[in-house]
Amino acid sequence: MEVKVFSNTDELNKYCEQMFIDIMTNNDAPTLGLATGSSPVGVYQELIKANQEGIIDFSNTTTFNLDEYCGIDRNHEQSYWTFMHQNLFNHVNINENNINLPEASGDLDQACSEYNNKLNNANIDIQILGIGSNGHIAFNEPGTSFESTVHKVELDEKTRQDNARFFKSIDEVPTHAITMGLSNIMQAKKIVLIATGENKADAIKGMIEGEKTTSLPASILQDHPDVTILLDEEAASKLSK
Ligand code: F6R
Repeated sequence: MEVKVFSNTDELNKYCEQMFIDIMTNNDAPTLGLATGSSPVGVYQELIKANQEGIIDFSNTTTFNLDEYCGIDRNHEQSYWTFMHQNLFNHVNINENNINLPEASGDLDQACSEYNNKLNNANIDIQILGIGSNGHIAFNEPGTSFESTVHKVELDEKTRQDNARFFKSIDEVPTHAITMGLSNIMQAKKIVLIATGENKADAIKGMIEGEKTTSLPASILQDHPDVTILLDEEAASKLSK
């Protein structure tokens, strides 16, 4: 794992943006793995600017998102579908047909197997990740098998509390989601994980310096050959070196 600590979040976002630019400018039809939540938002803003300035082109880009809440409609203001459109897709020249998120309504078993098949046929060039304060990546909560593929998950109480900031009250936070599994995430050619803030410091220490364990799902990344971890000083504050 390559670990980089930034004293300034703008620099962190620009570093990550450059990783995306390198891939998008060296590839005629790039495939991006995307995440929601607060961590990637600054990077998406930089990518929007780069697209508007003509530095990158999304017309031949395909995207796969990590996860989607169950029990709320795609058009709900807090669905990940809406989040991605508001924070990236509506502002760049992406073809709507090239956007993929799990379908989290209807027959969920079928939806999981369809998304899994799509991922098996995709080659994700770069996957951006955040990390939960409990060490989850995507919605692979502690205890999830390292072999997991796309599945329906019951969200951890900690995750629902962390995400309650986006809803009017915790009661409105969905209880379930469909998520890429850990083995899907490990298929990406390159992975970049962003963590900022002190509440991520324990998870970051465990992921980088702890043993590989399903109690801390992000620790599986220790086995990936090309992972970059981008941290601010608070998230890095518990690392021993
Ligand atoms: C988002 C996702 C989650 C978040 C994580 C961190 O698609 O799968 O794993 O990356 O919960 O969220 P933030 O960035 O809001 O702290």
